[in-house]
Amino acid sequence: MEKPNNQTMVIFGASGDLTYRKLIPALYALYNQQMLPEKLHVLGVSRTAITDEAFHEKMTDGIRNFSENIHLNEQQIEEFISHTSYFQMDMSLPDEYLRLKTTLNKININEGTDGNYMFYLSTPPSMFSVISGNLAKVGLSNPSNGFKRLIIEKPFGYDLESGLMLNRQLHEAFNESQIYRIDHYLGKETVQNLLVMRFANGIFEPLWNRNYVDHVEITSAESIGVEGRGGYYDGSGALRDMLQNHLLQVVGLTAMEPPSSMDADAIRNETMKVMQSLKPIREEDVPRQVIRGQYITSHVRGEYIPGYRDEKGVNPESRTETFVAMKFFIDNWRWSGVPFYIRTGKRLPTRVTEVVVHFKPTPQSLFQNDDTCKSGNQLIIRIQPDEGILLKFGLKQPGTGFNVKGVNMDFHYSELSDVHLPSAYERLIYDAMIGDSTLYARADAVEAAWKFVAPIQKVWNNDPSQKIYGYPAGTWGPENAEALFEEKGDGWRYPCKNLADDGEYCEL
Ligand code: BG6
Repeated sequence: MEKPNNQTMVIFGASGDLTYRKLIPALYALYNQQMLPEKLHVLGVSRTAITDEAFHEKMTDGIRNFSENIHLNEQQIEEFISHTSYFQMDMSLPDEYLRLKTTLNKININEGTDGNYMFYLSTPPSMFSVISGNLAKVGLSNPSNGFKRLIIEKPFGYDLESGLMLNRQLHEAFNESQIYRIDHYLGKETVQNLLVMRFANGIFEPLWNRNYVDHVEITSAESIGVEGRGGYYDGSGALRDMLQNHLLQVVGLTAMEPPSSMDADAIRNETMKVMQSLKPIREEDVPRQVIRGQYITSHVRGEYIPGYRDEKGVNPESRTETFVAMKFFIDNWRWSGVPFYIRTGKRLPTRVTEVVVHFKPTPQSLFQNDDTCKSGNQLIIRIQPDEGILLKFGLKQPGTGFNVKGVNMDFHYSELSDVHLPSAYERLIYDAMIGDSTLYARADAVEAAWKFVAPIQKVWNNDPSQKIYGYPAGTWGPENAEALFEEKGDGWRYPCKNLADDGEYCEL
């Protein structure tokens, strides 16, 4: 394991939830595993007036409540927290950055962090260009005397134009090689495992193409609703919140060609080629290829679940989608003609993210009751929860005759009892600390993803007659999503049943 160089990590927006629930617990987990630099200082920055002591208390509380799969050691927590401090400033005022620079210089001298800075922007996206621009003005993006890295969280724009503009603004202050765009899906262990499974085994890759794969299905379902984020979500919707970034990154890793090495650019060049090969959906095909839905009131096991339009911060007449399902193609040699189906939604019956590779059926059905032959084998890569891999195939049912029984070969990561599954933030922060951007989204890929969703955004924004379907909370989304498969007679995989006791599918 490579030990990161000494550095100061500056978290802008340190009074927010992300710092408290994710970033600080992830840093502590790294500390616990001795994966942090020898000398590290964490400086929390935000507008709220709080003392170092109050900041320490809150961060300690965050570690105690939100650490995942890690043994908590009170003395160790205290040691870790002693290397953090708080700095209050108005991030929109250029002059404040000189004051920040003075404080950073002091930290640098006192703690010996070698002039290396990692700036983590856990702020509203409108602040990205303001903060990066101001850091550059006071010389804090200049990598000549220690590295200067910038980590930003999505959304990276809200459409193609704003995505391009954001990249332009960031590039005025930092080079692309200094910018780390977090897509926390890339930090998930099983998402990375797609690379290992495909390229460390000889048995899958020869089948991983249009000759043997019938179709690919990717689902990211959530059982929760918008959880108090109605204000943000209503301006976003599932297409921007999940599909344009997380799901298309998973498509990239599922569909990419073997990289020439495990170098960041070698891998990102290949996922980029997938993004560039996504066959644009023509505007007239949007209603047929893209289905959107919004959850409506229902009861799930007797419990009343409010509809999306009743959530706090949501417009009561909102037409924002909380579900999207799409069929598309990848126009290249490997995948030509293979449909990809992706869906994501909130208030679905369960939380599951999985990639299902459906192989072509055998050319002839020799046996009785042979559903496997008819439907083809499936390889299911379960990204979360219960990370693992499942292969479905047919075996002879014991007894007379040749009846075929579908069986599972099932691997669960949890069976590797000695293995600590790092949280996505743990992995990604560590990678940024050692300067490895493999699992970060590159500017060109983000732009290509915006380009792909642009016709859908255009049609939905400009044509009020475009349909949005209501689905009762606790169901698998609009029934029409099934129609995406119509021509082939296939359908979505449903890891569990609908849970709603009532509520009626409708057109909103
Ligand atoms: C975030 C979205 O990026 O991902 C949320 O903004 C969503 O709306 C979340 O709930 C899902 O992440 P995970 O890791 O729980 O699948």
